[in-house]
Amino acid sequence: MCGIVGYIGTQTAIDILVHGLEKLEYRGYDSAGVATIIENQIHSVKAKGKLYNLRSKLEKESSIAKIGIGHTRWATHGKPEEYNAHPHLDGQGKIAVVQNGIIENYQELRQQLKTEGCEFVSDTDTEVIPHLIAKYYNPEVDDAFMSAVNKTISRLDGAFAIAVLCVDFPDELIVARQNAPLTIGFGQGEFYCASDVTALVHHTTTILTLENGEIARLTPLGVEIYDFSGQRLRKAPRTLDWSPVTVEKQGFRHFMLKEIHEQPAVVRTCLEAYINSNWEPNSNENPVNLNLSPHIYEDLEHIQIVACGTSWHASLIGKYLLEQIAQIPTFVEYASEFRYSPTPIMRNTATIGVTQSGETADTIAALEMEKQRRIIATNEYRPGILGITNRPESTLATIVDQVINTYAGIEIGVAATKTFLAQVMSFYVLALDLGYRRQKISAQRVMEIINGLSQLPNQMEQILHSEEEKIKELASDFPDTRDFIFIGRGINFPIALEGALKLKEISYIHAEGYPAGEMKHGPIALLDAHVPVVAIAVSGSVYEKVISNAQEAKARDARLIGVVVENDTEDIFQDKLVIPEVDELFSPVLSVIPLQLLSYYIASLRGLDVDQPRNLAKSVTVE
Ligand code: AGP
Repeated sequence: MCGIVGYIGTQTAIDILVHGLEKLEYRGYDSAGVATIIENQIHSVKAKGKLYNLRSKLEKESSIAKIGIGHTRWATHGKPEEYNAHPHLDGQGKIAVVQNGIIENYQELRQQLKTEGCEFVSDTDTEVIPHLIAKYYNPEVDDAFMSAVNKTISRLDGAFAIAVLCVDFPDELIVARQNAPLTIGFGQGEFYCASDVTALVHHTTTILTLENGEIARLTPLGVEIYDFSGQRLRKAPRTLDWSPVTVEKQGFRHFMLKEIHEQPAVVRTCLEAYINSNWEPNSNENPVNLNLSPHIYEDLEHIQIVACGTSWHASLIGKYLLEQIAQIPTFVEYASEFRYSPTPIMRNTATIGVTQSGETADTIAALEMEKQRRIIATNEYRPGILGITNRPESTLATIVDQVINTYAGIEIGVAATKTFLAQVMSFYVLALDLGYRRQKISAQRVMEIINGLSQLPNQMEQILHSEEEKIKELASDFPDTRDFIFIGRGINFPIALEGALKLKEISYIHAEGYPAGEMKHGPIALLDAHVPVVAIAVSGSVYEKVISNAQEAKARDARLIGVVVENDTEDIFQDKLVIPEVDELFSPVLSVIPLQLLSYYIASLRGLDVDQPRNLAKSVTVE
């Protein structure tokens, strides 16, 4: 939610800022803006809407500034209008601020600043920050700029990452972080900051992730980092093993399509990382290399999972796997609900936070709360908070005892695809590890599961090869369709939820996912010839049940689309999306792919912005 960038060095700042904002646009695209310092004046340009609006404004001017900050907005406080776009300035136009986060006490601060004579030109929470900095700015004191920013920060409640310019300090960029991501990039005589490394990798892979409660001064000579109490901190940057190509479309029309096609490789990488391919029954080694804390293997009685959106859907599949393979009772909670109505503390429980961004405010807060609850309740904290993410450098990693890296890499499309499947794969690995080490499954079953998993990448490639064109054609049948229903049972019920979420978020079509058996308890009243029903009817224990439920929909004139296995002989489906025949246990990894493609092509044929759908942001860092 919102992306910020900053630059100080020897190159033209505007070019670097705009390039950075382009990479951060997935975090919000309601407005964009930049501020630079030229001849002792702040020069700010802002535009409502997407970045190209700002870019066309900037094309009309040339800038020589070598320092600047930029922002791309996902509106929280105030409409997505130009007057609410960042950067925000103080009354004299000497200080400029960009912010990602929410200042919770902004009303109170704004009121106070108004009574002191400040005039506000936006409805945002952020605008109090430059006014406060100006209020505390005393040119007589040492280090006046840093000191004013520090005093300001001590007045702010909430979560924020900020970057600040001051005309009296044209060679200083000050940045600070409290519960919102911010990374510093190191070049030769030039330094960068950004909400996400995606905006940095084009320039440098030497980075330092600022931690909560840290403030930094960036000058052409280097970076100084302090805590909020003013203590200097000695921190070393690290090298990121990323290439800028990772964040390019590489010939695909959209990032989402590229990321759908990356899925077989992601699954392969995850299996290579965690499955011991030489493992044999009777060997002394473990089949899975997760190496969790010994206490988790010995004492675990329950698992609770917190997540949001698509990650919550992956967690529902995780529950199925952890219960069926490892025999561990598992509870899946919406992080946003768990925060305010947590389950009572249970003995010997591992909590797992699942998040692709590693920054989702609700998931992070739920995990922090759970950690504190356990410290207070037991006096003796036992490591039991895990995180599943593709962003091991994210805030999540600073909270949990251990991160399970899904190895999906960065995902740019707002609609999660490859990160979902990678999370699901992590649950297979975790369930297998726990099931084996806790002696809940036989060595024979371990071999069967490893064999089944190892075939998945080729089977996924087969679907992409054989079904994509067919799905594209099918998608053209729904130019005006307003509602869709997705049904599935057992391990494929979460896939029905995920299929519906993908469709609604990128095509704006109303779509619902239901457990197929629940349709007759109410939702079936929605059905008629205008509401297509997608049934996930793959072979396995619930196949006949799903077919019966699909029959019930057909009897109400619904157009039936089936996700079925090869050689399925059922003739009730008007359209069949075919996946290879697999054990039901592995079917969600395959059945989700046709649904991702269907939603992609429906949205794409409608001419919609697939990668940046309206009202959404990739990283939801507000409650
Ligand atoms: C997925 O397509 C959505 N954009 C959204 O539901 C997402 O999964 C959710 O916001 C959680 O994000 P996270 O995985 O980064 O925590």
